[in-house]
Amino acid sequence: MTEIYINGNLYKVSLPEDTPLLWVIREHIGLTGTKFGCGKGICGACTVLLEEEPIRSCITPLKAVKGKRITTIEGIPANHPVKRAWVELNVPQCGYCQPGQIVEAYALLKKNPRASREEIVRTMSSHLCRCGTYPRILRAILRAQSMMGVKT
Ligand code: FES
Ligand code: FES
Repeated sequence: MTEIYINGNLYKVSLPEDTPLLWVIREHIGLTGTKFGCGKGICGACTVLLEEEPIRSCITPLKAVKGKRITTIEGIPANHPVKRAWVELNVPQCGYCQPGQIVEAYALLKKNPRASREEIVRTMSSHLCRCGTYPRILRAILRAQSMMGVKT
């Protein structure tokens, strides 16, 4: 039995310790906001937070998160500036990559609310968006910074 905290709730899961965290989150806990893309740690669709750090849940085994705090897209409040800016600017196209993008942006601004444009672009470039929403993603993060009262 492995205990993990997801979005503030304690879950006890009885699964092999090498089960990818993404499978635990989607198939066993039923939080389907986190997406499966490449399964190889490349695309970023499966990004969640381990404590404060964005991780790729498709390549993270259950044993690595035992007793730790995980935050998924569902755990970010709807009124957080990042989510509000995403809605205001209609960022998603097909939407598939967007939960991972939002989790990454949320983590970035939590760590560094004053992140420069260059830092934002560098951080977000680790996520693939086949619809090419990168310009809107950048604008949304800049908008979120301004909602947070950050002058960039
Ligand atoms: S599905 Fe995990 S990085 Fe692509
Ligand atoms: S919005 Fe379609 S892959 Fe990013």
